Amino acid sequence: MHDLRVSVIDACNFRCGYCMPAENQYRFLRSHELLTVDEITRLVRLFVSLGVRKIRLTGGEPLLRKELPDIIRSLNRIDGIEDVALSTNGHHLAELAADLKAAGLQRITVSMDDLDEEGFAELSGVRADLNRVLTGVEEAVRVGLRPVKVNVVIRRGINEHAVLDLVNFARGEGYVVRFIEYMDVGTLNAWGMKDIVPSKEILATIQTRYELAPADPNYFGEVASRYLFSDGTGEIGFISSVTQPFCSQCTRARLSAYGSLYTCLFASEGVDLRGLLRHDASDEKILKTILDTWAARTDRYSEERAEMTSEEREKHKVEMYSIGG
Ligand code: GTP
Ligand code: 5AD
Ligand code: SF4
Repeated sequence: MHDLRVSVIDACNFRCGYCMPAENQYRFLRSHELLTVDEITRLVRLFVSLGVRKIRLTGGEPLLRKELPDIIRSLNRIDGIEDVALSTNGHHLAELAADLKAAGLQRITVSMDDLDEEGFAELSGVRADLNRVLTGVEEAVRVGLRPVKVNVVIRRGINEHAVLDLVNFARGEGYVVRFIEYMDVGTLNAWGMKDIVPSKEILATIQTRYELAPADPNYFGEVASRYLFSDGTGEIGFISSVTQPFCSQCTRARLSAYGSLYTCLFASEGVDLRGLLRHDASDEKILKTILDTWAARTDRYSEERAEMTSEEREKHKVEMYSIGG
């Protein structure tokens, strides 16, 4: 266990079709159901004592959690954490970037699936303003939240046209763009193999324009396969969890906004740590629960997907917006 992904809120201000389709009604957690700043801090400290070195704050949309700077400040006091990053849709970045940096955030990853204003508005499910996100990312860079990564999900027949625009943009700005294969996370997106665009195909599209050379991972278990532009201007990544699953190297634990520990993005059930916290469990008891859960882990959903029937895939799965991807 090396990375902990902490969802700080399940609510989101966007309604992207692959995560939280707009046609559904959502009941988000009430504030007393969310882990408090102190509860998050205590759990993270325990995870760090077990070897976690990287923290990624996620949502829903983490910038909607008003105590986010307090959470970051508090996590920064824990010895042993090497990396604190944030995944966001960027809509509130312009206002918040400076506070987040001051609180001790190191870097951000922003999701962006199109660079055409109309296409972006459509994909966001709420007619969000692309320029607002772009301004937010510029502000993040200005205050020192670097390096910026841009996560892109390309879906067949929906935004395949955006590949080169996003690559050109990221290259120009010095951001690292990463293409994530569309996954059957959660139960709401009606995923099918026909909807994915394999990384190989995206790579080939990019190679029509640029020469690329594969690069070694930055660290064991890195999910993105990296490529460097041969002219020395930056890099791109591919997260190919459908066509080239990487479960055997998975070092990620996930803590939901309601304080349950999930050992896989495709898990059905989490282990309730919030209940332990709120029933005055000792650190030893909580540590034992985490360790027992991790030791019993057999998750390899992405490696099993290809052999599963669609009924098997349709088992109850935790929603992406509860555990942040
Ligand atoms: P870095 O620390 O910058 O390397 O970030 P990261 O790649 O660990 O995290 P990021 O949140 O940017 O990962 C991008 C996306 O990859 C996630 O939002 C998920 O969609 C997907 N992903 C990350 N981890 C896993 C995983 O364990 N399994 C699967 N199937 N997908 C994952
Ligand atoms: N498949 C692949 N990526 C997804 N994301 C959200 N839902 C899916 C899905 N079904 C991505 C978002 C964001 C990150 C947290 O996960 O675009 O970049
Ligand atoms: Fe890890 Fe589960 Fe993703 Fe496999 S599918 S890499 S086990 S989170």
